[in-house]
Amino acid sequence: MSMPKTNTAYDKASLGGSFTFPGTSVTVNRMGYGAMQLAGPGVWGPPRDPDAAVAVLRDAVSAGVNHIDTSDFYGPHVTNQIIRRALHPYPEELVIVTKVGARRRQDKSWIHDVSRQNLIDSVQDNLRNLELDALDVVNLRAWGNNGQAPGEELLAEPLTVLVELKRKGLIRHIGLSNVTPKQLAEAQTITEIVCVQNLYNVAYRDDDAFIDNLTEEGIAYVPFFPLGGFNPLQSAALDAVAASSGATPMQVALAWLLQRSPNMLLIPGTSSVQHLRENLQAAALTLPADTLAKLNTIATKSEQRVH
Ligand SMILES: NC(=O)c1ccc[n+]([C@@H]2O[C@H](COP(=O)([O-])OP(=O)(O)OC[C@H]3O[C@@H](n4cnc5c(N)ncnc54)[C@H](OP(=O)(O)O)[C@@H]3O)[C@@H](O)[C@H]2O)c1
Repeated sequence: MSMPKTNTAYDKASLGGSFTFPGTSVTVNRMGYGAMQLAGPGVWGPPRDPDAAVAVLRDAVSAGVNHIDTSDFYGPHVTNQIIRRALHPYPEELVIVTKVGARRRQDKSWIHDVSRQNLIDSVQDNLRNLELDALDVVNLRAWGNNGQAPGEELLAEPLTVLVELKRKGLIRHIGLSNVTPKQLAEAQTITEIVCVQNLYNVAYRDDDAFIDNLTEEGIAYVPFFPLGGFNPLQSAALDAVAASSGATPMQVALAWLLQRSPNMLLIPGTSSVQHLRENLQAAALTLPADTLAKLNTIATKSEQRVH
């Protein structure tokens, strides 16, 4: 196990291979990019250096990234406006996935809002700020418990609004975020679901069984906080594997995810070109079975965690 020595460790064909969303002709490389880090501190307002944010996006796309995750409530509006500035007119193969179901207040807080009006306004905001006629994939963001762990709220009403917008041609495909298997099953009685975006990483694995089911169904699983999000991953096991493989801990965490299942699509977030390149190179790292076994000891069950 080692990282390739050349600085062309990634190319367009090696970003983790490709994945086609079920029932669609939409194919993306499994290593993508999450744009949340491009807004200012607290995901609010413009970044300190907007040109640097533009550079990250252009570098990602020129390296072959064709899956970018965003939302119009990042900034709000700012992240989508930076994406438009950096990449519009978009390459044909670029898939931009966005999410709706929340809004921001002036005090920077996040408000769950799946009212009909907010969903319609959010789709319109995404279309305007990204300068698109239709959104490739829209995730309905459920709130669950405190916004980070899924609950069991009913999704039928907001999903029906998204289906209506899909019929109007404003949305091409629908996904879910922060949901349980039961909520997915309910949603599938209403419309086709192409992806699930939940919190998951090498240290937080509440969705293991869910992921196995989604793999069988061919639905994409897109972990948010793949590197720990606002609390970056820290683990002695991760450090030890990284040290012995000539990779960084973050690269090992991403390589582990890519090897976890073939429907796993990665959207690590970064505001730095250097970190972006490092993250993309993780797709070239293959972890052998004994290393995977060591990494599989990192996670604790949610009932053992102190919240
Ligand atoms: N559905 C949802 O509810 C939801 C929630 C959260 C996020 N998301 C999506 O998921 C994406 C990923 O999540 P995230 O960005 O919050 O968290 P993440 O990818 O787990 O981690 C991002 C953090 O890791 C740092 N980082 C990235 N690459 C690094 C590297 N190679 N070495 C060291 N540090 C590194 C970043 O800082 P630097 O900027 O300094 O690199 C940033 O602080 C988001 O961008 C967003 O699109 C969705």
